[in-house]
Amino acid sequence: MKKLALFTVITGLSAMLLSFTNGPVRVEKSTQTKVVTVPFQQDVSIKAQMTAGEKIFKEKCVACHQADGNGLAGAFPPLKNSDYLKADPKRGIHQVLNGSNEEMTVNGAVYKVPMPAQVTTKEDALAVINYVLKEFNGYSDDKLLKMTDIKDIEIKK
Ligand code: HEC
Repeated sequence: MKKLALFTVITGLSAMLLSFTNGPVRVEKSTQTKVVTVPFQQDVSIKAQMTAGEKIFKEKCVACHQADGNGLAGAFPPLKNSDYLKADPKRGIHQVLNGSNEEMTVNGAVYKVPMPAQVTTKEDALAVINYVLKEFNGYSDDKLLKMTDIKDIEIKK
């Protein structure tokens, strides 16, 4: 009888100990899971980004930069094989978020018509600029911009 009682106490104690140790371990696991999911929410797959980017391009950019991305001589600069864009793709993100009003030389021609802001979120800016880089400037997936590359860009209201 005594042995059985002692056994019960020991198993009871170890069950308590287990539940104590289980507790914090479980919490740690769930915070780890959270940390892992954040980059995935920010950096959607390239495929999803291209779908979103193409939609934005067709809705907004084609009016000026044209469907083939060649722009209109004297007014709207080309997005296709643009030396200006390729020299600094992050600047392109800034331009679609905040607009652009400066004289610029693109592939040897000077443009000075202002461009109004086109998108309101960094996700949309990243999608459309990455689409333009991949589709019109021959960028491979690993050369495309990531959310971390553009985290310092401010969205001016
Ligand atoms: C209302 C016409 C208009 C629309 C719409 C427009 N742009 Fe522009 N874009 C311009 C003009 C004009 C410039 C030259 C701006 C300057 O000189 O400051 C320009 C310049 C640029 C440049 C830098 C120069 C180059 O050719 O590489 C990029 C990149 C660009 N636009 C991307 C876009 C994207 C992407 C969209 C769609 C989300 C877009 N633009 C929509 C008129 C437009």
